[in-house]
Amino acid sequence: MNVLVTGGAGFIGSHLVDHFVKAGAKTIVIDNLITGSEGNIAHHIDSGRITFLKEDVCNIDKISGEIDVITHLASPASPFDYLRYPIETMRTASLGTFNMLEIAKQKRAKFLLASTSEVYGDPEQHPQKEEYWGNVNPVGPRAVYDEGKRFAEALTTAYNREYDLETSIVRIFNTYGERMREEDGRVIPTFISQALKNEPLTIFGDGKQTRSFCYISDMVEGIIRAVQVGKPQPVNIGNPKEYTMLQVADIVRKLCLSTSGLKYLPLPENDPKKRRPDITRAKEVLGWTPKVDLNTGLIRIIEWFRRKDD
Ligand SMILES: NC(=O)c1ccc[n+]([C@@H]2O[C@H](COP(=O)([O-])OP(=O)(O)OC[C@H]3O[C@@H](n4cnc5c(N)ncnc54)[C@H](O)[C@@H]3O)[C@@H](O)[C@H]2O)c1
Repeated sequence: MNVLVTGGAGFIGSHLVDHFVKAGAKTIVIDNLITGSEGNIAHHIDSGRITFLKEDVCNIDKISGEIDVITHLASPASPFDYLRYPIETMRTASLGTFNMLEIAKQKRAKFLLASTSEVYGDPEQHPQKEEYWGNVNPVGPRAVYDEGKRFAEALTTAYNREYDLETSIVRIFNTYGERMREEDGRVIPTFISQALKNEPLTIFGDGKQTRSFCYISDMVEGIIRAVQVGKPQPVNIGNPKEYTMLQVADIVRKLCLSTSGLKYLPLPENDPKKRRPDITRAKEVLGWTPKVDLNTGLIRIIEWFRRKDD
């Protein structure tokens, strides 16, 4: 099998590349490294098991050779990153997705879009089902990402309808695991890095806002199943167990044996108050449920953070 992974030098993409290489697929990675790192896939580049193209998906609309599957993950993903790169984020979601869909059309390849729970915005329904259309402020600061992904979903669906392309859309909920950057602003790497240094953990607002966290191996499994099944309706992939930020801070401090306190900062604009996937569709259509609980996943990533700094 010939696979193209965009954003393959990023956190989730590099784990997906590990999976494809292990499965014996001929793998091409396109990544401009705006938020990713060559280090995440260096082990495959050095052994000649993948082809790495350091390119922007906005600048490529042709590729030589056969491609059977495209998994399109390229996009800044953490709020820090997309607020720092607003125009790049919108270009990647629009032009970049358009280019990758054109390649899929030329090659008659299966196409998977990595979308996000952010398409639900600050949701008025809880938990979020795929049928819910969301509550996004189109001119708020987060819109560059939320509306970009909503556009990418619409474009992917249009290619499915217009050209009968086999497409899938996964709406990824907060995912964590090894290779997250400690400075990327997402809550788990931020808390771990602060706890290991015994510095105060940053809590935005009152810390009662909730998120659900999916460990990376579960996420990769969900994405692979979505590619295999190839159904065009979006599917939520995430862990439905919900935690407040204060609860996560407590678990991380305990697991790190940390003496850190808490530091409260104002809530960012349009920050969602609640986030939990309804995964009925993932269970029924993909036969997928997450297996790794938060404690187990945190122990693994904390261990990785410790080893990395040795
Ligand atoms: N991690 C999560 O919790 C989460 C949640 C929802 C959705 N997602 C989606 O999953 C995908 C991967 O996220 P991640 O957490 O691995 O983020 P990441 O920032 O670690 O990886 C994204 C990768 O895309 C690359 N990239 C960005 N713009 C590009 C462009 N124009 N051309 C080529 N490469 C480009 C970056 O360099 C990076 O390597 C993203 O599409 C993101 O929106 C992630």
